[in-house]
Amino acid sequence: MCTRSLRPFRVKVAQAYRWLGAHGLITGSSGNVSLRVGDAILITPTGVPWEEVGPGEIVTLDLAGRVHGRGFPSSEWRLHVAIHRARTDVRAVVHTHSPYATAFACLGRALPVLPDEGKILFGSEIPVAEHAPPGTWELAHHAVVALADRRAVLLSHHGAVAVGPTLRHALLHAEKLEETARLFFLASGGMVRSTFTV
Ligand code: 13P
Repeated sequence: MCTRSLRPFRVKVAQAYRWLGAHGLITGSSGNVSLRVGDAILITPTGVPWEEVGPGEIVTLDLAGRVHGRGFPSSEWRLHVAIHRARTDVRAVVHTHSPYATAFACLGRALPVLPDEGKILFGSEIPVAEHAPPGTWELAHHAVVALADRRAVLLSHHGAVAVGPTLRHALLHAEKLEETARLFFLASGGMVRSTFTV
């Protein structure tokens, strides 16, 4: 695998990660981004705050999850690899702990999509994957199953995943997912807990 020619794509992954931070969808290093380029997956590093991630920090994996070159990939690399393997239409995967979506994911229930615009993107609800510990193949498997052919999925008691054919689309879907959760909270008068058991 030639990793040097991937530099322009590393720049894009780092930019996407910083965009998530600047828009409040991630804090610190609590989220990760990957982009598939041919048989390579470029992924954000583990444990590096978003403000400090540049192209040099982006890690290259193959589709088996092996690191090529240097660096330590996100602890959620299995989640990213599993989605890239399962979805040939997907080029970019974004995992966030954005607050409204994550709060809803902690209820362990599918998120109803209320606005028409959201329904066009996500359908009538955004499912929640069965719970599994962070960073495991079990989590990756449950996420792939619940995501199916959709653009977004919640991870029970954890966060959210959005995907797209490009980084721009995946970022948009992550932003819209958070907006969907915020709108549900507002429309329900913040009374979500009265109808769900945490
Ligand atoms: P990383 O810093 O390893 O990407 O972990 C953050 C995270 O999102 C765990 O779910």
